[in-house]
Amino acid sequence: MEITKVLIPAAGIGNRFLPYTKAVPQEMLPLLNYPAIHYAVDEATSCAISNIICITNKEKSAIAHYFDENNDLDALLKEKNQESLLVDVQKIMRTAEFTYIRQSEPLGLGHAIWLARNTIYKEYFGLILPDDLIFDKQPAFSQLLRIAKQEKATVIAVQEIPIEQSSSYGMIAIKKQLSPSLFQVSQIIDKPNPIHSPSNLGVIGRYIISHKIFTSLEEINRYGDNKELSLNDAINNMIQNNEKVFAYKIQGTRYDLSTPLGWLKANIGLALQHPHYSPHIRRFIAEFDLASHFFTDQLTVKNNKHFL
Ligand code: G1P
Repeated sequence: MEITKVLIPAAGIGNRFLPYTKAVPQEMLPLLNYPAIHYAVDEATSCAISNIICITNKEKSAIAHYFDENNDLDALLKEKNQESLLVDVQKIMRTAEFTYIRQSEPLGLGHAIWLARNTIYKEYFGLILPDDLIFDKQPAFSQLLRIAKQEKATVIAVQEIPIEQSSSYGMIAIKKQLSPSLFQVSQIIDKPNPIHSPSNLGVIGRYIISHKIFTSLEEINRYGDNKELSLNDAINNMIQNNEKVFAYKIQGTRYDLSTPLGWLKANIGLALQHPHYSPHIRRFIAEFDLASHFFTDQLTVKNNKHFL
């Protein structure tokens, strides 16, 4: 099995990060000095996959700009002898080939994937959700690749989720356990109430998917109450059509960048591992005195509490 393409859906509204996402794509949130999408593409290219298909919309041109040449900036940095500042993004630009497909209406993850059907055609492909950041010595996507090649089938990344958070995830029902970390899936239940969750294994944003998903998306052609075409419904349809689907417990620390709290944790987590920032952040937290650092007003705190 050869995987040559990774799909990165980046057309969401980012409603849990409003008002920031009113003007700036959520995928451009900074994690230290790199935008979130940089990490997603880097994860694919570090697995030798260079064909990146990005699903965007008319508000997301900053993403294409980020991965494009900027001759004026290059010339300016050359003059100042600071070319090394762009070295990481240029490495991606040299390796990756981008295809952008626009989703004109926010019709959900299933619909975003459906739009890539003629670009992916009849191959297995990778799916990386850029608002899930996963750090491990071995990139999460390469962990999945190994299993997909071994099983020659669709594989979904899962992690153990505190059961009270099941209503934020696709939760898997297990058909068979094949090893401590590998499961055959009988169904994905989308965002169940904890008492209805079939396990504590929640889907996180890394997948390797058979092209048969396109037939399933066509077959279900069902837009829910939220007017979205669900990827989880399409995966369930594939299972009903006798396609094997596996779930693999991914190693690594995961951050959910779709909320301000998850994004803050990701930045702090990254900074604490960074040789330059780490001592500064540790000192800042140790010495932080709430009374003398009162910089936020109560209204902001009140309005944001729903998204914690
Ligand atoms: C999507 C998937 C869901 C998964 C989640 C992980 O949901 O549909 O199965 O658990 O990503 O981040 P979303 O958070 O986009 O609603």
